Amino acid sequence: MNILGIETSCDDTAAAIINEKGEVLSNVLSSQTQFYKDYGGIVPEIASRKHAELIGYVIEEALKSANRTLNDLNLIAVTYGPGLIGSLLIGVEAAKAISFAKEIPLIGVNHLEGHIYSLFINNKPLNIERVEFPLLILIVSGGHTELVLMEEHIRYKLIGETRDDAAGEALDKFARALGFEYPGGPVIQKIGEKGDPSFFHFPRLSLKNPYEFSFSGLKTAGIYYLKKHEKELKTHLPDICASFEDALTDILVNRTLKAAKALKVKGIGIVGGVSANKRLRKKFKTRSKIPVYFPQKGFSTDNAAMIAINGLMHYKNGERSNLLLDAVSRLNL
Ligand SMILES: Nc1ncnc2c1ncn2[C@@H]1O[C@H](COP(=O)(O)OP(=O)(O)OP(=O)(O)O)[C@@H](O)[C@H]1O
Ligand SMILES: [Mg+2]
Repeated sequence: MNILGIETSCDDTAAAIINEKGEVLSNVLSSQTQFYKDYGGIVPEIASRKHAELIGYVIEEALKSANRTLNDLNLIAVTYGPGLIGSLLIGVEAAKAISFAKEIPLIGVNHLEGHIYSLFINNKPLNIERVEFPLLILIVSGGHTELVLMEEHIRYKLIGETRDDAAGEALDKFARALGFEYPGGPVIQKIGEKGDPSFFHFPRLSLKNPYEFSFSGLKTAGIYYLKKHEKELKTHLPDICASFEDALTDILVNRTLKAAKALKVKGIGIVGGVSANKRLRKKFKTRSKIPVYFPQKGFSTDNAAMIAINGLMHYKNGERSNLLLDAVSRLNL
């Protein structure tokens, strides 16, 4: 089987081809980040226009590097939400056009479910056939910070989420206050690598509900600190970045481990853009008594391979979408 995955929920135009074993034959992504340098963030109108410009090339490139043609495809999986509506529509319409013209089955995929299934791409770190449930999943990205109980394949229960900002958003805003462009997470990680995380103690969270998160307090404390200590930036920038990242990752790790213990899960999966973070990975690995799984390198942030593999799972479950498939900006698991 050849499965085409398409992902256009935000500012990345992505297409990938995988086979029935979940192995990646090609994985193509065109990032639009460079277009937003002068705007301080993504501009939805520009994002959808760029997707429309790029989607054909990206799909063509995915087919070419997998050494396949449209005639070889057996299934199309496409993100239909959540995300920017104008962006989602481009991917959904492209998928429907190919499905209709080539008479290939179509599956609409929830972007967040796609992130969860990034754990199964190439059967690494988890083998799709031999995984032990229940798993506790932390989805941690630019738009989401959620704890999800995965009871079995494609069956989930939302346990808790952030009350305000997502963890990635707090990193992006803190980085922007330092004058860095989006995405902020990788920059803070790089600068903070040689810093002292105990240089300044940013507030850790004290929410009563053990399954909830909140990052607006930390974000505000970070930005306020930068304003108040401008002179320190020249000499202590790595220490300040390390301290901020240390607080953010402490909140994520401590709360997730507590939830995992209470829910008696067999393992923990960390997915979404922030799951690429080295400090976060190290803390989870050293502090957890049960196995913790992270996506393989390159599959934490948005990609189309995770959409393809989740689509395949739903297809095997007997589900099908049709040409009425519509993009939706808000969508829960
Ligand atoms: N190495 C890293 N360390 C920390 N944060 C990172 C790292 N790499 C990426 N990020 C963060 O990940 C986020 C991007 O995540 P991702 O591509 O999964 O999704 P998104 O489109 O922003 O949000 P969503 O998936 O919720 O719609 C950004 O906030 C970025 O700063
Ligand atoms: Mg994402």
